Amino acid sequence: MAAAHRGDPRTGGNEVHAAVLAREVLEVFAATIPQAGECWLVDGTVGAGGHARALLDAHPELRILAVDQDPDSLSEAAPVLEPYGDRVRMRRGRMSQLGGLLRREGLSDVIGFLFDVGVCSLHLDRPERGFSFRDDGPLDMRMDPSRERTAADVVNTWDEHDLADLFFHEGGERRSRQAASAIIEARRRVPFQRTVPLADVIAKAVGGGGRIHPATRCFQALRRAVNQEGEELLRGMHAAEHHLVPGGRLVAITFHSGEDREVRRFLSGRARAGHWTLSKEKPSRAQPDEVAKNRRSRSAVLRWATRTQSDGVGA
Ligand SMILES: C[S@@+](CC[C@H](N)C(=O)[O-])C[C@H]1O[C@@H](n2cnc3c(N)ncnc32)[C@H](O)[C@@H]1O
Repeated sequence: MAAAHRGDPRTGGNEVHAAVLAREVLEVFAATIPQAGECWLVDGTVGAGGHARALLDAHPELRILAVDQDPDSLSEAAPVLEPYGDRVRMRRGRMSQLGGLLRREGLSDVIGFLFDVGVCSLHLDRPERGFSFRDDGPLDMRMDPSRERTAADVVNTWDEHDLADLFFHEGGERRSRQAASAIIEARRRVPFQRTVPLADVIAKAVGGGGRIHPATRCFQALRRAVNQEGEELLRGMHAAEHHLVPGGRLVAITFHSGEDREVRRFLSGRARAGHWTLSKEKPSRAQPDEVAKNRRSRSAVLRWATRTQSDGVGA
């Protein structure tokens, strides 16, 4: 995420990254968080802790289970959330593991779930994490370092057809076949181990000329495959359905049309089955003032829905 504020006394001078659509997140949850009485919200992608901090400030009795799969994110969030003491429990885990985590924590009735998916600046700004096509690093891309499969494994072992499908469906790369074919050709000579040589091969195959780096779409697709992002989001939303109290809300912020489609499909399908009431408003997007400060927010889409009366789903 962009726009970092330095020197905030509440974080001991650590950087706090701008939380995307923070105003809108606060508005959606304001209607459901009670004025008085302790209640719990799950931030399933706590990142640098920006949204969590804003929610804790706005609701003095709110408690947050702050979860992230990436230990580096938790290290960033720790000094931001530490001042809130026992109002925050920080735990490492994936969205797909939230059900087990909530059971272990003894939290059954949750008032809100927040998912702000995708990469953040700590991934892109640290070449050693292997997300950057500009700054060379090992071809890794795992947000959860305990996952076995890296981006190098995908690039060096998947067949041409599967790579092309991945680039097309998960990255929206129209020249996916050319990219896949160039990768197969190059890896016959030397397997890929670093990000920039891969970006160079892809750029040559798909051609430049657009406003974004020519390897952007294929890198996004690889990241989604390595971190199983579609499946993670779906399982996170199922956990929200299982654990939210009636009237509790799910807020999902996504950054590309495929992810937004997954949220829309899940919520409208489950709303038809009676488990959710959909928001009547259009999905929120960042206002020009936010985009001017934080370019990454330009592609963010926020959808939310309210859990209906308890019906024993998944119980
Ligand atoms: C865009 S950042 C979140 C920023 C945060 N909302 C804030 O205000 O600082 C996304 C975070 O979600 C985490 N993440 C992505 N997918 C996840 C998953 N399936 N399970 C847990 N954490 C995930 C990433 O590691 C990253 O730290």
